[in-house]
Amino acid sequence: MSSQMTPPKQPTFHQLFTTDHDAVRAELLAGLTAPTAYTAPKFLYDALGSRLFEAITELPEYYPTRTEVAIFERHGAAMAGVVPAGATLVDLGAGNCHKAASLFGTLHPSRYVAVDISVDFLRSALLLLQRQHPAMDMVGLGLDFSAGLALPPHAMPDAVLPGHSPRVVFYPGSSIGNFTHEQALAFLHSVHTACGQVADSGLLIGVDLVKDTAELEAAYDDALGVTAAFNLNLLLHINRTVGTDFNVREWLHVALFNAAESRIEMHLQARHTLTVRWPGGERTFTGGERIHTENSYKWTLLSFQALLANAGFAASQVWTDEGQRFAVCWARAQ
Ligand code: AVJ
Repeated sequence: MSSQMTPPKQPTFHQLFTTDHDAVRAELLAGLTAPTAYTAPKFLYDALGSRLFEAITELPEYYPTRTEVAIFERHGAAMAGVVPAGATLVDLGAGNCHKAASLFGTLHPSRYVAVDISVDFLRSALLLLQRQHPAMDMVGLGLDFSAGLALPPHAMPDAVLPGHSPRVVFYPGSSIGNFTHEQALAFLHSVHTACGQVADSGLLIGVDLVKDTAELEAAYDDALGVTAAFNLNLLLHINRTVGTDFNVREWLHVALFNAAESRIEMHLQARHTLTVRWPGGERTFTGGERIHTENSYKWTLLSFQALLANAGFAASQVWTDEGQRFAVCWARAQ
């Protein structure tokens, strides 16, 4: 009888973050009026930007996504040997949840906590995933973890992060590359803290490695111009958000490897001298002047393992592809 049956599990959702539109506007204008104009990379991801990024991951020149997938396929069994089964898998920047879901059969988590800036992005993905994995506990968290993974205790009931299940924090895709070394250290510290002394917890992270400059620059300046569109779309996003009158046709996509800083930099460069206006202000850019829109840091195996150690993680284990283009690390918290 149905009274004897357990009702099917349903994902639960918690939005722990609200957008303050005035603060976003002020943040963008502070960057646009700085001596060297800049914007934070998060502004690349409006609805169109997110779709353009998905297209980037399919470009022949953009090796990180497919290389990471290949590493998981090739070394999945070895990973399952060290990453604890039955864990709470905390997926940072989960989006459509595809990457984590593709690892369920390898890592056998008992609970899945998908974290993204907007819980609404997670809803449809988690509802679908729950039907495919009816026994797994699933939680969607709307949280801006870019300044650190501080999981607010009041919002973290035992139901979200139970003390008895090891925590596996999953941070794939080399998203860590957007952080400076200092920010990356602080961020990984907060992840280490979020592992919360629960035995066998740790971090499973994908990181892009230093390589030949031509290969790096091609990955961020592809022949089809998809990355250019991704970068230029930022101007449309800013126009909508702060009421600027950027004309996309007056700007050029620039991607270069800064070897001294070990990072790819993306810029938007004014094709000629022009003035951008918005309610309450304006700025003139001289021809060739740039807006710095993204950093994507590239690590070496040694420098990244040193970073993990500095952040408090115990021994880490690394898997790479044959070309050592990309690395996946498992770093135990204790
Ligand atoms: C999402 C930050 C990992 O740095 O490779 C791709 C973003 N920017 N092409 C990266 C990005 C331009 C991407 N991350």
